[in-house]
Amino acid sequence: MKKNLIAGNWKMNKTPGESIEFVENLIEKLKDKDYDDRDILICPPFTSLFPLSKILQKDKKIKLGAQNVYCEDKGAFTGEISPEMLKEIGVEYVIVGHSERRNIFGETDELINKKLKKVIEYGMKPILCVGEKLEEREEGKTFEVVRNQLENCLKDVKEIENVVIAYEPVWAIGTGKNATPQQAEEVHVFIREWISNKYLQDVAKNLIILYGGSVKPENIDSLMKEKDIDGVLVGGASLNVDSFLRIIDYKGE
Ligand code: 13P
Repeated sequence: MKKNLIAGNWKMNKTPGESIEFVENLIEKLKDKDYDDRDILICPPFTSLFPLSKILQKDKKIKLGAQNVYCEDKGAFTGEISPEMLKEIGVEYVIVGHSERRNIFGETDELINKKLKKVIEYGMKPILCVGEKLEEREEGKTFEVVRNQLENCLKDVKEIENVVIAYEPVWAIGTGKNATPQQAEEVHVFIREWISNKYLQDVAKNLIILYGGSVKPENIDSLMKEKDIDGVLVGGASLNVDSFLRIIDYKGE
């Protein structure tokens, strides 16, 4: 059965000590909860992955994800982290193509495509982020931008079963301006149709499409009521245990 996914992207926040404290606190508060319709994922900075993996091997309620990876197996790539390093410590998901990686660090669709394939090769699940900038939305180019990103980033990708797609409109990230559930839903429908045309209808039906951009306790329930929103990728509101807990505990339909 397809499960929804509630994912926290901590970005460049929390030291290893702070990460451990957060996760121990979250586990304690999740003690009496047993969700069978949703998975919980945390994507901390690289330095927190190893200590958290030790904790999460014992408590399996929370899955572990990385925020980035390099597209080569090993070698002279100073400062980079390989997929094998992530795999060995129990990382299940890897975010690729986040708009901050694209816009601040100049990552191209071509590089993102390489990274995504490596993540699949190592048996992990890529979370591919796509989304338009404000001026692109205002020019009516949202679908065109998203289609181009999908086409380029999924080029020659045959196994789409383990790919998660996150629709993150750039204008909604960290701005407090979230897309309305309807604005998000129409792009999610577009993404699912695109996948359905390129791959199989059944695969598209089971594809997990997340929304990201100023998700908060106040808007999570209405977002999760939309048929094609299968979860969320949360930045700021995932840094506080109580607000993340309320998002995890969304009331959908
Ligand atoms: P915010 O939730 O802080 O807007 O960030 C969203 C995001 O970029 C998640 O990857």
